[in-house]
Amino acid sequence: MYYNDLLKEIEKEDISNFNYLLKYKFNLNTNDFIPKKDISKLKKLVIKARNIPVQYIVGNVNFYGYLYNVNKNVLIPRFETEELVENTIQIIKKKFNNTISILDLCTGSGCIGITLKREINANVTISDISKKALKVAKINSKGLNIKIIQSDIFKNIKDKYDVIISNPPYISYDEKIMDIVKNNEPKIALYATNNGLYYYEKILKNIKDHLNKEFLIAFEIGETQKEKIIDIANKYLDNIEINCKKDLQNRDRMIFIVNKK
Ligand SMILES: C[S@@+](CC[C@H](N)C(=O)[O-])C[C@H]1O[C@@H](n2cnc3c(N)ncnc32)[C@H](O)[C@@H]1O
Repeated sequence: MYYNDLLKEIEKEDISNFNYLLKYKFNLNTNDFIPKKDISKLKKLVIKARNIPVQYIVGNVNFYGYLYNVNKNVLIPRFETEELVENTIQIIKKKFNNTISILDLCTGSGCIGITLKREINANVTISDISKKALKVAKINSKGLNIKIIQSDIFKNIKDKYDVIISNPPYISYDEKIMDIVKNNEPKIALYATNNGLYYYEKILKNIKDHLNKEFLIAFEIGETQKEKIIDIANKYLDNIEINCKKDLQNRDRMIFIVNKK
């Protein structure tokens, strides 16, 4: 059966989910002939995808051009986080010349730290509190010489770094989020107390002890959190420059903090 004929049969389903399954689960393009044996499987999976994210069904996700394993124990990496990685790489290239050390806190699948390791010359450490998430990150970082530490933020981190990057949980408990996210992705990866600011405070409070003299801190943030996070940064750090960047949808979604020269 051809794609367009099958589409007519499943027109009530989410076409982007259907396309995702076709490509990543069945390795087929929209102009390929769809073999009979795959048609009923595809139909079943697209119905399953009404309630379960396709990335969990397929078991991986494309992030910054690389395929990463995901399961229900890790957050599904988002486009905004690719933007965080992209901007961080640009800043690193301008600010540092030598091999640098990077710590990715709250790493989940490992997508941030592992992508940075692949893109730049760096010694990378990734860390998370969740053992189950780190199992996934370990698979994703295979063969890349990345250090993995299980830690409640800095509790088990002893070293100092040039770059500390994090996309911590930042959704306030009273914020409304899509059911498919709420019902599937790990709560520990989503929510934070103190209006979503708990982890920024927890990280920034102790970050000085883990930074080299020349440093970059890079955070993904919620779109309403910019001013509050700037206040927290100024509370714990002196002689810093803070830059906020908007994402492609013009929302304040990234904060970069560097030492003042
Ligand atoms: C928003 S997810 C980010 C995952 C991944 N870095 C990404 O960008 O897709 C936040 C991660 O923080 C981890 N986390 C939650 N509380 C933590 C804590 N106290 N210490 C370290 N990691 C924590 C969760 O397990 C989850 O993997």
